[in-house]
Amino acid sequence: MTKHERLHAHLETLIQGGIGPDQRLPPERELAEAFGVSRMTVRHALDRLERERRVYRVQGAGTFVARPPIAKTIELTSFTEDMRRRGLVPGSVLRVFETVAAGPEIGYALSLSPADEVVHVERVRTADGIPMCLEHAYLPAALVPGLTTLEGSLYSELHRRYRIRITHAEQSIRATVLDQEAAARLDAPPFSPALLVERTAFDERDRPVERAMSTYRGDRYSFEIAVTTAAAGSPARAGRRSGGE
Ligand code: GLP
Repeated sequence: MTKHERLHAHLETLIQGGIGPDQRLPPERELAEAFGVSRMTVRHALDRLERERRVYRVQGAGTFVARPPIAKTIELTSFTEDMRRRGLVPGSVLRVFETVAAGPEIGYALSLSPADEVVHVERVRTADGIPMCLEHAYLPAALVPGLTTLEGSLYSELHRRYRIRITHAEQSIRATVLDQEAAARLDAPPFSPALLVERTAFDERDRPVERAMSTYRGDRYSFEIAVTTAAAGSPARAGRRSGGE
């Protein structure tokens, strides 16, 4: 290890737990002497940490360890993966498979013009054979030529047949109630509580591949999100959705 590397490693250790948040780092002079480098070198190392918001400086008082921000992350999973992780057997009942014009909203989400064609798939998603979620997924028809029906996992099919891998998504989760139609499909009383998950999913080339609205029965489904601090390592220490019955 060079002197610089030893200095960096030492600062990392201090920040990652050697001393707590809002605690002062050793003075520049002390660090420079201890590691046999110039004060300028120490200052550069601290500058970088400051830019990364891992330390902050107080005029005349020194450099302090910053409080790590709380990052909430949630792992991108397909329904199939999600259910399997909960120990449930995923299933699907295909209700609608059609090619339609995108329309303004879906078109906007998928970066298509409203007249462009999308494949619309409506499925009741089941867990151990019991309805869990009503899902409407829209995909640009041009990305999935020849897709005329769907059995099993949509994401697996996208990968297997079109080499499309969903790598990231924008997603919102909000409370809603089941309308008459959704209630009938999910075998639940109308107006019972539900969770609406809206997702725009992208592939590794950042192309929008799917816009989906998934309505989960509120009594059967819960989101559990593991939260971690940015300093705890990889920012994508992911959450796991769990719950069910
Ligand atoms: C989740 C997502 C949907 C996606 C689905 C794919 O439910 N919210 O946007 O369409 O997973 O699941 P599967 O690959 O099991 O069909």
